Amino acid sequence: MRILVVDDDKATLRLLGDKIKDWGYSVYPANNGTEAWERLESNPVDIVLIDLEMPDMDGFELCRQIRNANFRQYIYVIFIRGRDTQQEIIRGLEGGADDYLIKPVNFDELQARIEIGGRIISLEKELNRKADVINKNYFQTIHMFSNLLEVFNEELGGHCRRVAELSLRLAKRHPDLSEQDYQIAEAVGFLHDIGMVGLPSSILSKKRTEMNGEERELYLSHPALSEIILKEIEFLWPIAKLVRAHHEQVNGLGFPDGLSGKEIPLISKIVSAASVYDNLVHRGKIPLEDVHNNLQRMSGYQLEPAIVDLLLEINLENIQEEKEKVFLELDLDDLTQGMVLAKDVRMKSGAIVMPARMELKTYSIDKLKSYRQLACVSNKVYVCK
Ligand SMILES: [Fe+2]
Repeated sequence: MRILVVDDDKATLRLLGDKIKDWGYSVYPANNGTEAWERLESNPVDIVLIDLEMPDMDGFELCRQIRNANFRQYIYVIFIRGRDTQQEIIRGLEGGADDYLIKPVNFDELQARIEIGGRIISLEKELNRKADVINKNYFQTIHMFSNLLEVFNEELGGHCRRVAELSLRLAKRHPDLSEQDYQIAEAVGFLHDIGMVGLPSSILSKKRTEMNGEERELYLSHPALSEIILKEIEFLWPIAKLVRAHHEQVNGLGFPDGLSGKEIPLISKIVSAASVYDNLVHRGKIPLEDVHNNLQRMSGYQLEPAIVDLLLEINLENIQEEKEKVFLELDLDDLTQGMVLAKDVRMKSGAIVMPARMELKTYSIDKLKSYRQLACVSNKVYVCK
């Protein structure tokens, strides 16, 4: 356990530091609030003991800064103060302190309070670890569904993967979305067409105008089917709702619910725009330079104008990227960690093994080599120069 002790009185600082070290903790001394803050920024600790009466930055200010900062783990703050006035104690606790001690410090009490702080920090670390596992499971589940789609239908799987990528790019540029929303937008992108799995494969290759009445009806049911499939898993419920709305249009002429304008969730609008873009470029084979006009025509009717603007921005970047793209064709044995795939690596059956733009790690190179051993992939891959 790492403990930062902040006190402007050098003798007290040394005394407290020696005692805490004797109890088996790592101690970091700081003579003032500024020094303490520099230390925390470069190397966060578990517990901070703060003397409340210091020059330059007082203890309340230091505590406020700690609570406002975005440290990866919780920092337990104990105030040490000279006078025991109830008002000051309340001010300290309201300002974010977890505990307080009155001078002169009783060392047995200090040790007991540090142990309490240690228990809370350990519980918090355990909670974070479990939250990381849940988060990992969440993404693994989404990727499993996405891989299933890829196996079911290569074109549909590729579409969903690209829509997920583009939805994430759009979400990151949208001023009304947070970091948590980015993950949701990506997941909705991956899963938006999962309901297509229940439809006859003949429908997948047809344009809507080419479908007969029955096929059309089935096609129109796919957002609701996607929702039903995802609702089987409780933690996917919020995503299921957003997936249902991915064919709604801002003019109210979409399906399945005919929602319009603000009735359509923002993330559904983003995924819808990403899906339209992908269909124009990959199914419609429209050159990137011509996509601009198509999107402009849909702005305000099918798609939200602000999202179309972001999409046009991304399209310009894609045009530039295409111009600059230079590939290298390499043997699997010549791959090194950090290289970025320029094209999808596919099995001989066509299913994707690794997508373009993925940065190679040692384990991904090993995975490719093991596929080669099974004669599933070619010995050549394309990487960005
Ligand atoms: Fe769809």
